[in-house]
Amino acid sequence: VWLARTGDAEPDLWQLLDGDELNRRATLRRPADRDRFLVGVAVTRLALARYLRRPPTTIPISRACPRCGRPHGKPRLMPGVHPRIEWSISHAGDRVVVAMALEIPLGVDVEVSTRALPVDQLARMVLSDQEIGMLKRLADKERARGFLRFWTRKEAILKASGQGLALPLRSLTVSGPDDAPRLVSWSGSRPLGQLALQDLDVGSGYLASLASVGKSLGLVILDGAALLRRH
Ligand SMILES: CC(C)(COP(=O)(O)OP(=O)(O)OC[C@H]1O[C@@H](n2cnc3c(N)ncnc32)[C@H](O)[C@@H]1OP(=O)(O)O)[C@@H](O)C(=O)NCCC(=O)NCCS
Repeated sequence: VWLARTGDAEPDLWQLLDGDELNRRATLRRPADRDRFLVGVAVTRLALARYLRRPPTTIPISRACPRCGRPHGKPRLMPGVHPRIEWSISHAGDRVVVAMALEIPLGVDVEVSTRALPVDQLARMVLSDQEIGMLKRLADKERARGFLRFWTRKEAILKASGQGLALPLRSLTVSGPDDAPRLVSWSGSRPLGQLALQDLDVGSGYLASLASVGKSLGLVILDGAALLRRH
C-alpha cells in the first residue's frame, strides 16, 4: 500500500500521464481534485514501473468504464501485460492511497474522519437496516466516525468488485465499526464471491479500509513520497 500526499507532487509530475489521463485531469474543475488525481496516477505508474521493470510512461493502462466506455472507471493493465498486477486508488483531503497486489483484485477507500456529516440522512441512503441498528447503538459522539467506518469498508468492497456504485450499497452489510472488519451479508442480484476486509492506518484524521477478492492480504505500507521524489 503506497501512501502519498498531494503536497508531494513535483511540478513536472504531469509528464508521467498519458493522453487519456491528461484529458481526465483537465475535466476536473477543482485544483484539489486535479492534484489528487495527478498524485494517484503518478504513484500508480511509478510503482508499476518498478514491478514490471519498464518506464512508467510506457505502461498501457485502461480506465474504460464498463457502463459507458469513457475513461473514468477502475484502472487496470491492458490485456497482455504481465505480471497481472491489480490495484485500487483512493484519495481524500490531501491523502492518496494506492493499494497493489499480484493477481488479486482489491479495493481501497480513504475518507477524512474529521468533517461534520449529516450522519442520519447519509445512513438512510447507504447503510443496510442492520448497519443502521449498529450505528444507533453507538454513543452520539462516536456516530460520525462509526458511519465513516461502515462507509470505508463498504466502498472498499464496491471497488474490489469493480462494479462501483452499480452495486447497491444498502444491500451490503459489513461488521460494526468496533468489530473486526468483515462482510456480513450481501443481498444483491450479482454474486460477490469471497471477500476479505481489513482496516488501514493511513494517519490521524483519516479512516481507510481495504477489500480483497479471495484471501486476506499481508500489508506492507510504503512511502509514496519517496517514490515521487525519485522519479
Ligand atoms: C468507485 C467510486 C465509488 C469511488 O468514488 P470516490 O469515493 O468519490 O473516490 P475515491 O477517491 O475513493 O476513488 C476514486 C478512484 O476509484 C477508481 N474507480 C473508478 N471507478 C471505479 C470502479 N467502478 N471500481 C473500482 N474503482 C473505481 C479510480 O481509480 C478513481 O480514481 P482516479 O479517477 O483518480 O483514478 C466512484 O468513483 C464510482 O462509483 N464511480 C462510478 C460512477 C458511475 O458508475 N458512474 C456512471 C458511469 S457511466
